[in-house]
Amino acid sequence: MANTILVGAQWGDEGKGKIIDVLTSKADVIVRSQGGNNAGHTIVHGGSTYILHLIPSGILRRGKVCVIGNGVVIDPIALVTEIERLRRLGVKIGKNLLVSNCAHLVLPYHRLLDEQRELRKGRAKIGTTKRGIGPAYGDKAARSGLRVSDLMQPILFAKKLQAKIRENNSILQALGAKPINYREVHESYLAAGEKLRPFVTNTVVYLHRALQRGKGILFEGAQGTFLDIDHGTYPYVTSSNTTAGGACTGTGVPPHRMDRVVGVMKAYTTRVGEGPLPTEDRHLTQMLHSLGREFGSTTGRARRCGWFDAVATRYATMINGIDELAITNLDGMDNVDPIRICVGYRLNGKHLEVPPCDAVQLDNCEPIYEEMRGWNKSTSSAKKLSQLPLNARNYVKRLGQLTGAELSIVSVGPTRAQTIFL
Ligand code: GDP
Ligand code: IMO
Ligand code: MG
Repeated sequence: MANTILVGAQWGDEGKGKIIDVLTSKADVIVRSQGGNNAGHTIVHGGSTYILHLIPSGILRRGKVCVIGNGVVIDPIALVTEIERLRRLGVKIGKNLLVSNCAHLVLPYHRLLDEQRELRKGRAKIGTTKRGIGPAYGDKAARSGLRVSDLMQPILFAKKLQAKIRENNSILQALGAKPINYREVHESYLAAGEKLRPFVTNTVVYLHRALQRGKGILFEGAQGTFLDIDHGTYPYVTSSNTTAGGACTGTGVPPHRMDRVVGVMKAYTTRVGEGPLPTEDRHLTQMLHSLGREFGSTTGRARRCGWFDAVATRYATMINGIDELAITNLDGMDNVDPIRICVGYRLNGKHLEVPPCDAVQLDNCEPIYEEMRGWNKSTSSAKKLSQLPLNARNYVKRLGQLTGAELSIVSVGPTRAQTIFL
């Protein structure tokens, strides 16, 4: 398989987990490069539903190696819990999982700070997953984070942890939160560290050797383009580079080794958490929720839903260099008629073709819609494009055309079999 970067082209939860699981059949190595256990990637297979947070979505297939790269922030206790949960479901985890020694750790004070900052923001909150992601990346950027390699050296870890807990307890106390008990954290983290030790390695060297041996690598993006710390709807974003460039820095694989970029997008738009969502639509949200769809895989929160936003996805194609598109959840539109597509924004009387950088301006943008006829039929058993109703075919073609990349996959249900390859 060509080395492939897979990114979310919207606000996260595009169905990346499902598409990664499908594409994994042709890959040798699957690597996560950013984010942490804020991610929730769902795979429905063999009658079971698996939700992956830190472990790459390739783990369900035998003979594939899954790598957690240097750019990921790892909560060791969450990772151990995830490994144990998957093992209980019969998933084999041993030599097929590697964890970067350079990845930064998420510690309990990160989670508490995340919570406190959100609380203090009141109505201006970001709506984070409260997994400590922002504070952990904050420590990384401030050059004061702890890494997996520290956890692998108990004496050094104890010393660094003690200093960090002292520093953060004074901050937490000033915020009126309970201080953290060093002993408890030390003990539980060291125990988790010992369980993770067999997986820890220099993943950069592993990936380069794999490339030398001609192995195909699939880079699994987490979150989505508009949650990117640079290109997203700042400050309503996550704290990592969720766009294609993050795959290089977060794994140590250089840009010229990347062969293609696949962008995953839903046939409509969703967002969980606060921040602008120009095409948000209350009726569409209610309809999707009434079908039991669009509840978050990590926090269970109801996702906000809206019409497909081609201004956003066109911009995502530009930033990520998307070559191929995977459109998921087409079946979500089965009984919607007419269907709207946002083809431009209007802001202060001006027509915009790219989203403004400023979140307040984006919030004030009025979508310009075109309408298409729906198909009022189930698409979930279609195996080929020709088996889709004509209006559904026209709809996905139009999404591809407006987004500006080649349509390569259409997904009509959560399982592997419900995938149409073009
Ligand atoms: P991710 O974070 O991008 O991996 O996406 P999530 O797993 O958080 O959310 C996507 C949801 O849509 C999950 O419940 C998937 O099982 C589901 N899903 C993915 N593709 C399809 C599809 O084509 N149709 C339906 N009905 N569900 C899908
Ligand atoms: P996957 O990989 C959807 C959102 C949160 C919040 C913002 C910041 O499953 O697509 P954070 O906890 O990262 O500081 O929260 O980002 N968010 C996601 N939304 N899917 C995700 O991951 C997300 N990860 C974070 O809801 O708005
Ligand atoms: Mg998700």
